[in-house]
Amino acid sequence: MADKKIIIAIDGHSSCGKSTLAKSLARELGYIYIDSGAMYRAVTLFALRNGWIVNGQPDRQKVISGLKDIFITFQWDNETEKNTTFLNGENIEEEIRHLAVSQNVSPISTIAEVRTEMVKQQRENGKNKGIVMDGRDIGTVVFPDAELKIFMTASPEIRSQRRYKELKEKGLDVDFDEILQNVEERDFIDSGREVSPLRKADDALVLDNSHLSREEQLQWSLNKVEERVKVYEGRN
Ligand code: DC
Repeated sequence: MADKKIIIAIDGHSSCGKSTLAKSLARELGYIYIDSGAMYRAVTLFALRNGWIVNGQPDRQKVISGLKDIFITFQWDNETEKNTTFLNGENIEEEIRHLAVSQNVSPISTIAEVRTEMVKQQRENGKNKGIVMDGRDIGTVVFPDAELKIFMTASPEIRSQRRYKELKEKGLDVDFDEILQNVEERDFIDSGREVSPLRKADDALVLDNSHLSREEQLQWSLNKVEERVKVYEGRN
């Protein structure tokens, strides 16, 4: 693989394997990996802990003024190949995956001020390129000039089965129908919100992974990276 570093933006619906692909790409290419969803989850956890979300409704003003007290960082462990999210220095990786956070994160991510702050931090991470970031608005808003944009998708049932298996393996007591409902609700809110809705960027490549193995997705993406790096090198 050539040495020019590019920005890889991966967007798509909830639970369609974006982070799995993003992590393997980052490992193969020696790039940084940033899970932008974890940042919205961290803000949600902070709001829940402070009692700023009541019956699924966030108190917007409290969340907005609380943003200045939220510092999100990541740590990548080469040996375990795990990415850990920290909120003000506390490891919150496990807690942000719980259903309580999943059920409240979409309303939090519709708050424009929350998005502005997250986008600012995300762009900071991409300053030197060599980054893979996954989310909902990475190719459309965060990095509109990313050299490679991938839009991932798979059916809601397949995505829920994957998330069910993942949570069960972690020993959590979960119900399939509740997960399916959560996946469908999040699709609806994420695609319909006014601010930065989930949308395929015009120049994004679609990857429907309903029937593709992880290895096949990785190979497909690495081929695309190679093509884009060549184009980019030709231009510079
Ligand atoms: O990728 P995830 O399921 O961990 O994301 C959690 C939520 O965060 C998701 O419901 C939508 C929101 N999100 C967003 O609005 N913009 C992003 N770039 C990433 C996630």
